[in-house]
Amino acid sequence: MISIRDFSREELEYIFDVADEMESIYRSGTDVLRGKILASLFFEPSTRTRLSFETAMIKLGGGVVGFAEPDISSVKKGENLADTVRVVESYADVIVLRHPLEGAARLAAEYVNIPVINAGSGAEEHPTQALLDIYTIRRELGRVDSLNIGILGDLRYGRTVHSLCIGLTNYDVKLFLISPELLRLRREFLEEVKKKVEVVETDRLERVIDKLDVLYVTRIQKERFADLAEYEKVRGAYRVDLDILQRAKESLIVMHPLPRVEEIDPEVDYTPHARYFDQVRYGVLVRMSLLKLILSG
Ligand code: NCD
Repeated sequence: MISIRDFSREELEYIFDVADEMESIYRSGTDVLRGKILASLFFEPSTRTRLSFETAMIKLGGGVVGFAEPDISSVKKGENLADTVRVVESYADVIVLRHPLEGAARLAAEYVNIPVINAGSGAEEHPTQALLDIYTIRRELGRVDSLNIGILGDLRYGRTVHSLCIGLTNYDVKLFLISPELLRLRREFLEEVKKKVEVVETDRLERVIDKLDVLYVTRIQKERFADLAEYEKVRGAYRVDLDILQRAKESLIVMHPLPRVEEIDPEVDYTPHARYFDQVRYGVLVRMSLLKLILSG
């Protein structure tokens, strides 16, 4: 699973239907994947994605190996990615890979004969996050079609944004892309999205907040800026707080892939709009679904 582009609407819906079935297994556990091993290879920081995959695998009865600190693996000695994954292939039945470089997951998949799941490749893609984001919308609002979905923040470097936009082009949605000029979606990417769904671009959340059914907030990806002076120009440029939410629909849901830094006021957590911690739970169900489908045939 390298890119969300490889999935049709029918395939997405199938993964979501199986995720619904995972709810009871999530509580009780099962052993359908007994004897199977997941290798999580994380070359970049992570809390949710790694723990979520590992939890999903353990709930299904499988085992987990891997590293979250490449500095203590042979990568530190200069081993290249192709060699690392070819070695891991002898230990594991599936590889979950997060890497700072775009294209890393695709490269890894070319070298091994076991499935590779992209858990984040640079600023490019984060397909399983898009799955859980769309699944959250489906669970919380009962549908994805005919919704007004706002995506706020770092649309330029946010890999979750890229995968989510592409995933949503399978549905009949209207996208509101809200960001400072410097963080807008790259033009060629925008053109691709515009071919499939209606898009409104703005730099002010106030202008569109009353229209939204979903507000997906993102962190400014400081680590991806080539020039920190550029980051300083946009730092703190937007923040969702109780004030702005007064103008929103009562039914608006506020989402965030997390980690959050300053872009959502903690007071929002206690409003009925907040769904970012529910997303975390749905993420385990979606990853259980994916692992079961990939590993149990
Ligand atoms: C995101 C990521 O790593 O791209 N986090 C996640 O996986 N939930 C978002 C981010 O780091 O801002």
